[in-house]
Amino acid sequence: MTNGKLITFEGIDGCGKSTQVQMLSDHLSSLGYSVVVVREPGGTDVGEAIRDILLSVELSPCPETELLLYLASRAQLTRQIIFPALNEGKVVIADRFADSSTVYQGYARGIGMETVKKLNAFATMNLVPSITFILDIPEEIAAERMKLKSKDRLEKEGTDFLKKAREGYLILAQEEPERFVVVNASRSPDVIFEEILLILKEKRVIQF
Ligand SMILES: Nc1ncnc2c1ncn2[C@@H]1O[C@H](COP(=O)(O)OP(=O)(O)OP(=O)(O)O)[C@@H](O)[C@H]1O
Ligand SMILES: [Mg+2]
Repeated sequence: MTNGKLITFEGIDGCGKSTQVQMLSDHLSSLGYSVVVVREPGGTDVGEAIRDILLSVELSPCPETELLLYLASRAQLTRQIIFPALNEGKVVIADRFADSSTVYQGYARGIGMETVKKLNAFATMNLVPSITFILDIPEEIAAERMKLKSKDRLEKEGTDFLKKAREGYLILAQEEPERFVVVNASRSPDVIFEEILLILKEKRVIQF
């Protein structure tokens, strides 16, 4: 058993995950917690190489290949970084984790959520986050926020795909209401962050 905490952030592209991950990491670090931030896909040397394949605009892997690449990156990240950190009692904050595959490849790409959940269990040695925040936002607002960024292959797919992914996240949240917290991410970063801190406190994930 591990004594650390794994906190994951999920939600469609442009919902504000990286922004909240940074705010939480800074806050917990300032309180003296030992924090490790990981991002998916990537986070290890092997994972970053896989990330380059996944985000390349020149490649078009089929959904099954795409899924296996994400799982490969995740298997490496879990064994090399996340489990060691949790065993040392650290707080690990993940910018996307297994649920992203369940939603994107399982639901939006149609492989099937249950199939992907089983493969995730293998890739992560059955690791389940202490809590998962789903930053929920209408796809139009997310698309608007992303206009400012240069787009990689996955971000070029348009709002229909984002809509499907948003739907997938809300299905997952209904299936496992103890772990998932759906947060209205249309608000300002500070307001969202305040709510996240409150929830972490109430659910006793972090002792403030
Ligand atoms: N609550 C917010 N309100 C308005 N803009 C925001 C908010 N949160 C983040 N942003 C801005 O929206 C853009 C996307 O945010 P961010 O990169 O945090 O999203 P993300 O979920 O990590 O996206 P991706 O999945 O593409 O990595 C950034 O320009 C960021 O500054
Ligand atoms: Mg991000």
